[in-house]
Amino acid sequence: MATSGKMIAEGKAKRIYETDDPEFLMFYFKDDATAFNAQKKGSIESKGILNNRISRRFFELLRENGVDNHFVDCPSEREMLVRKVEIIPVETVVRNIITGSLQKRCGRPEGETLPRPIVEYFYKDDDLGDPMINDEHILIFSWATREELDEIHRQALAVNAVLEPFMRERGVLLVDFKLEFGRDSSGNVLLADEICPDTCRFWDIETRKKLDKDRFRQDMGGVEDAYQEIARRVAG
Ligand code: TMP
Repeated sequence: MATSGKMIAEGKAKRIYETDDPEFLMFYFKDDATAFNAQKKGSIESKGILNNRISRRFFELLRENGVDNHFVDCPSEREMLVRKVEIIPVETVVRNIITGSLQKRCGRPEGETLPRPIVEYFYKDDDLGDPMINDEHILIFSWATREELDEIHRQALAVNAVLEPFMRERGVLLVDFKLEFGRDSSGNVLLADEICPDTCRFWDIETRKKLDKDRFRQDMGGVEDAYQEIARRVAG
């Protein structure tokens, strides 16, 4: 089993370490939380443990359902061993229900269910504030090839087709979520990063109560309880 070595990156929610095997990296999930491109900073008790547990369950479920991904193992409650990929600098967002930045852009009521999922792309660049982009930008600036982008689009909808009914069975609406993809050592597009209440919107199906990072972004309180609730429903 690979063990952690030198830290190679520290993000807002996790640290990334080399391992003794160049094919693998180790994530360490922190409790730190940021919003609005780190203008708002805080911490959510036990978030790292809960996000690791939730991400693990989603990655395992996706693999069981034909969506391969970088997940290998969780050697401890805050650590995740993953296959190393070269991250494609595009954040892929899938939406089932209108809220967030889409609601601001389209002027329709929050909570309206879309007739089919929408896939959007954002350029992963903190200095620019992750601006929305389209296929043309991705191809012209060589962030991904046409083939890679088609694969990202296909896999993003496949993730939704697995996670949306899984959450529905657990009384939760999968409102929207953000994915990151990378290239593995063979150059194949592989789902990476994390999938958790930091990167998804979850609403209780009955009450529409928000059970995700929007509670932190919008100072709604009950943030820890929401993450605990999702961990309980997803990972038991
Ligand atoms: P948005 O409505 O703010 O564009 O967010 C869409 C989805 O992406 C939502 O599930 C939250 C997630 N997200 C991230 O994972 N990271 C981010 O930096 C932002 C802004 C959103």
